[in-house]
Amino acid sequence: MKSDAIGTHVTVAGWVRTRRDSKGGFSFIEINDGSAFSGLQIIADQDLPNYESHVLKLQTGCSLTADGILTASPGKGQKVELKADNIQVVGWADPEVYPLQKKRHSFEFLRTIAHLRPRTNTFGAVARVRNAVASAIHRFFQEKGFLYIHTPILTGSDCEGAGEMFRVTTLDPARVPIQDGHADYSRDFFGGPSHLTVSGQMEAEVYALAMGDVYAFGPTFRAENSNTSRHLAEFWMVEPEMAFCDLEGDVALAVEFLKYVFAYVLEHCPEDMAFFNRFVDKSVIQTLENLVSQDFTTLTYTEGIKLLEKAKVKFEFPVAWGSDIQSEHERYLCEKVFNGPVVLVDYPKDIKAFYMKMNEDEKTVRAMDVLLPKIGEIIGGSQREDDHDILHSRIVEMGFNPDEYWWYLELRKFGSVPHAGFGLGFERLIQFVTGLSNIRDVIPFPRTPGNIAF
Ligand code: 4AD
Ligand code: MG
Repeated sequence: MKSDAIGTHVTVAGWVRTRRDSKGGFSFIEINDGSAFSGLQIIADQDLPNYESHVLKLQTGCSLTADGILTASPGKGQKVELKADNIQVVGWADPEVYPLQKKRHSFEFLRTIAHLRPRTNTFGAVARVRNAVASAIHRFFQEKGFLYIHTPILTGSDCEGAGEMFRVTTLDPARVPIQDGHADYSRDFFGGPSHLTVSGQMEAEVYALAMGDVYAFGPTFRAENSNTSRHLAEFWMVEPEMAFCDLEGDVALAVEFLKYVFAYVLEHCPEDMAFFNRFVDKSVIQTLENLVSQDFTTLTYTEGIKLLEKAKVKFEFPVAWGSDIQSEHERYLCEKVFNGPVVLVDYPKDIKAFYMKMNEDEKTVRAMDVLLPKIGEIIGGSQREDDHDILHSRIVEMGFNPDEYWWYLELRKFGSVPHAGFGLGFERLIQFVTGLSNIRDVIPFPRTPGNIAF
């Protein structure tokens, strides 16, 4: 609230966090309406007609409206307070059963009450930071002239190979039509197999090859059974795609983008960030400030593997050229070798998707992963193969059917251009920004293996 509001008559509405009664015949009621981390203190005098019948029964979780004069507060911790002329209880919350009566709860417990956890300090702050980051993402791309496009959630192509897909069907599971020993999806809703998308990339490529620079920002789904603190079955992805752009341009955009978002959050969410810095991760603000000014180290996968082979630590997963870089390796490179963000490029072709552009060595592809301390991979991207014949043979080599990619291949037949893009996991970004260690706590309703009810 602006301080020039002092002395004016205002009406407020919110949920009670605490009530304290003073001996002098009035009560302090702290309410929060979600608009900011700090709430508003309401002073309720015993002269209010409903003081005994209502005000003295207010408990944590009740909702109310109040009006009165906003005054400068003599007390510690707040600049203004409301001297109430009138308090209306809108909804009661029985303290015997309201689950958020206590001040502190474990994140595990709060996950079981996803309908109430946004009323806590932590989840309120997460919701505001998510909002600010989403806004920063749109601003960044809009300021650069990128076109926001909407890619489909339902897809008929089992394209990407980015991960296991969720099947979408309206067939009765007890009576699936069988043809030659297989489910006959020609009798399903779409007349063929359909899934939830794992990425909007391929459709983004369609639009990049007409509109230049585009970005998608929407939900994506992966049916991997990874019960980790960094994986969700439903998460949001930001996917820019640029025509007339190579891998170097892609890396440069990713770095500029991350710096912009971190600077935006530091500027726009100081109160929420101060809370995370105090109660969640004491280094989180410093980490973000460093990233805004630090250089990102770019090195090839091959160079990364050499550094990992030299490492004097015992990794759970072995290090060898040609195998996947695990999260422990990513963190080692960021935290122990470079003490900062790392961009790994030019991965072996066999561990990356078929659409990535082949390097001249014919062993590696123009892939990039952006790795951050504590969290590991936050961005995955690449320059796309723009040569029709090479792409065709890569599809065959990887065991896919080129007919299913006819439209994707045609993009390389008609006015093909070098193009590149990346995908950023929105929740991993929120994890990094807030310092929260579990991805389930940075999305309102987490979907993970075995958990959809709530
Ligand atoms: O590296 P990925 O799989 O890349 C793609 O899907 C590309 N098609 C993107 C593109 O080039 N347009 O996923 C991109 C990012 C990862 O770096 C990670 O941050 C996040 O998405 N991600 C997940 N986040 C939460 N839960 C999961 N299960 C995730 N899988 C990937
Ligand atoms: Mg990846």
